[in-house]
Amino acid sequence: MGNPMIQAEGLVKIYKTKETEVLALQGLDLVVEEGELTALIGNSGSGKSTFLNMIGGLDKPSAGSLIVGGKNLFTMSEAELVKYKRETVGFVWQNNARNLLPYLPAIENVMMPMYLSSEKKKREKAMELLEMVGMAHKKNNRLNTLSGGEQQRIAIAIALANSPKLLLADEPTGSVDPSTANYIFDVFRELNKNGQTILIVTHDVTLSKKVQRVVAIRDGKISSERILKEKYTDLVKEVSLDWHTLETQEEFSVVDKAGRVQIPRELLDSLALDDNKLKVELVDGKIILSKPEEKTNETV
Ligand SMILES: Nc1ncnc2c1ncn2[C@@H]1O[C@H](COP(=O)(O)OP(=O)(O)O)[C@@H](O)[C@H]1O
Ligand SMILES: [Mg+2]
Repeated sequence: MGNPMIQAEGLVKIYKTKETEVLALQGLDLVVEEGELTALIGNSGSGKSTFLNMIGGLDKPSAGSLIVGGKNLFTMSEAELVKYKRETVGFVWQNNARNLLPYLPAIENVMMPMYLSSEKKKREKAMELLEMVGMAHKKNNRLNTLSGGEQQRIAIAIALANSPKLLLADEPTGSVDPSTANYIFDVFRELNKNGQTILIVTHDVTLSKKVQRVVAIRDGKISSERILKEKYTDLVKEVSLDWHTLETQEEFSVVDKAGRVQIPRELLDSLALDDNKLKVELVDGKIILSKPEEKTNETV
């Protein structure tokens, strides 16, 4: 095990409105190591954005603990939070309008958030980042003249402007076509090869099949994880493979601190239980879950 970048423990988020309370995160546990590229998947409303926003310092947890890059998000002061958002995390959204200035050239956009001393240093760093995302040739183009995919690559460069320890992306390929999505994912993979820790929310099945580690969130908790099989690690750029149907990863259920496991719905349905009771037995070192046998009249 390396150094942890994200340590979430029993993370809870409650959104209160006048009439209702929404439990968006329900005791989420997750550890992400430095240098990992992790994808976060899950149905709409499962809490993915809530979790990412919290890591990004945009939202406070209601309970639990969240430590990112050694900083405790729960106890941080406002001043520390400003510094944290500037130095520890970089954020890419699906809709990048939030951090782009349409009438400025690409390079000026990348320089904008930088806290470097001189104009010269900012320009050098911005050029380096534009090269990294494959956009150096369009450095002088205004953003409103670039395609959606190109703007998204600029958004990645902007998120990296202050060399954050952790890059967060919430559905970064959500509004581009599949080949552009693939290209953008390659950018993330290259960054990761150079040591960047990255957490990406995605609902793109094909892309998630090419990631080393996929964490699935269900009802505000991590339910399962998939790990890329060894033989696919060097094949992720292979376009001739039918990624959509390949079983590239091994799937594991996640056990929480209280010993709770979420059983995949299809498996549970196949048992056709009469009520909510399962028989749990240890047989030859394996735990067997089965439907209780029909009740017979007990003979004494
Ligand atoms: N600001 C908010 N106020 C009230 N409820 C919210 C707010 N943000 C998210 N929620 C609710 O929290 C749950 C999780 O939302 P979200 O994290 O956006 O899910 P996802 O990104 O996985 O689609 C949903 O039920 C959503 O409606
Ligand atoms: Mg979301």
